[in-house]
Amino acid sequence: MVDTAVISNGLDGIVVAETRISEVDGAKGKLIICGHDSEELAFNSTFEQTCALLWTTGGSEPASEAALEEKFGEGRLEAYELLKKNPFVLRQNHPMDALRSASSLMSSGTQIDWAEYARITAAQAVFAANWSRVHRGLELKSPDAGLSHSADFLRLLNDKTPSKADSDALDIYWTTISDHALNASTFTARVVASTESDNISAIVAAIGALKGPLHGGAPGPVLEMLNAIGKPENAESWIRNSIDSGKRIMGMGHRIYKVRDPRAAIFEKAIRQLEASGAPASRLSLARAVESQAEKILAEKHPDHPLKANVEFYTAVLLDAIHIPDHLFSSMFAAGRVGGWLAHIAEQRLHGRLIRPASRYTGPMPR
Ligand code: ACO
Repeated sequence: MVDTAVISNGLDGIVVAETRISEVDGAKGKLIICGHDSEELAFNSTFEQTCALLWTTGGSEPASEAALEEKFGEGRLEAYELLKKNPFVLRQNHPMDALRSASSLMSSGTQIDWAEYARITAAQAVFAANWSRVHRGLELKSPDAGLSHSADFLRLLNDKTPSKADSDALDIYWTTISDHALNASTFTARVVASTESDNISAIVAAIGALKGPLHGGAPGPVLEMLNAIGKPENAESWIRNSIDSGKRIMGMGHRIYKVRDPRAAIFEKAIRQLEASGAPASRLSLARAVESQAEKILAEKHPDHPLKANVEFYTAVLLDAIHIPDHLFSSMFAAGRVGGWLAHIAEQRLHGRLIRPASRYTGPMPR
């Protein structure tokens, strides 16, 4: 008989798995990915290298760098062919709906295999970039399998080969957000994998979980907020009005971090690096001003619940600085987090068991 006396609404503090993939220290503001400090990894690893690390840690065989890059290139081309045959999937208005639908057209099994994972991961970027193209009235565009994943994504999106500074910044973004322990979408992927369902079913479910505004849907609204505030002097009154009318400030607060999310600092550093390379000035100084007002006002309203900037706050500023339209922010998150989802799916298949929590019945009993 299950003891239903104690409920953890939202599963706070409930440990349901051991993992070697990542560790979040919410008190110290530290993120470790496969044994590496996230900042060190972000500035020294391409997204493909990060995926290789994640997947080997999850339990896949290792791949050579050249073989992995080749599979990413093949995967992008395969995804493009799928879109050409099924262009209707890109007609959906919400980019995450299109990503979910396009992904669900891919065939898959339950294999733990880096080549399969590269194929699934590569496809997300092609689906996202081409969704954006279609919604801007442009033709579908074919990937260039010879480019790096980040450079090819930016080329698909903007019709020109990007600067190295821009593609490096995208590698930093995707590596930084590639994994984050048992967040809602990763947990969702593990639940589906725990039923021995196939890899794509787990990825499609995870995309659905990431779409929500309390998880991966926040950076678009963050950019809208920065645009609405316009200049630092307006920040305080805008934020007070927003909170007083019962709204949440997007990009602030986190279930695990009680201090500032370490990924915010990584993105800030990446933005400064971009600006130093000659890129036009970003919205960084406005963002810093808005963050400090938001932090101050939220501390007044919730003195016992630290609410600091989370990853989404500076995601908006970084992606905007590399010319990614805000309608793609959540898809960009999915295109990077898919690396972590697949590592967790592998780990779940190898070491987990069916995830099946209990509930407490509060309905009527039969007479
Ligand atoms: N703005 C205003 N108030 C907030 C915010 C916020 N951003 N975040 C939490 N609060 C308030 C809540 O209204 C609640 O107040 P109450 O106790 O008076 O009802 C209190 O703080 C606690 O809120 P919870 O939702 O219980 O806190 P939790 O730790 O579960 O929330 C979450 C974490 C969902 C991220 C929340 O802080 C939030 O909604 N933030 C805005 C959305 C966002 O930025 N999402 C991206 C998260 S990062 C990621 O998933 C990749």
